[in-house]
Amino acid sequence: MILKAAVVGALLAFGVLGAGVATASPELAKAQCGKCHDMDKKSKGPSFKAMAAKFKGNEAGALKAIQDPKGDHPEMKSSPADVQTVVKWMLTL
Ligand code: HEC
Repeated sequence: MILKAAVVGALLAFGVLGAGVATASPELAKAQCGKCHDMDKKSKGPSFKAMAAKFKGNEAGALKAIQDPKGDHPEMKSSPADVQTVVKWMLTL
């Protein structure tokens, strides 16, 4: 009985967290990257939709394009975890 309640509780907590991440990402993208990337038109950098098409199925490639110190991506303050969350969301576009 107690074990069952714990499992259900864990599943519920997981579901809530999952939904939180999914809905937080567009806002996170806007907050972290919106200064230079727009949803569907070119800004300082390419649009999220264009980047999603270019890096489809290539999360590692997208991360490298942003984080490689030898790359030409402008330096930014976003944490690696935030960058990864945004990239995961971006690749679902
Ligand atoms: C200070 C402005 C700025 C910020 C902030 C910024 N970017 Fe960029 N980004 C650019 C510019 C300019 C380019 C184009 C140069 C290049 O390809 O590296 C670019 C390129 C990229 C590329 C490679 C595109 C390609 O076609 O190769 C990716 C992926 C990317 N940005 C993702 C992000 C993500 C995700 C964030 C937020 C976590 C972010 N950027 C924040 C300016 C910015």
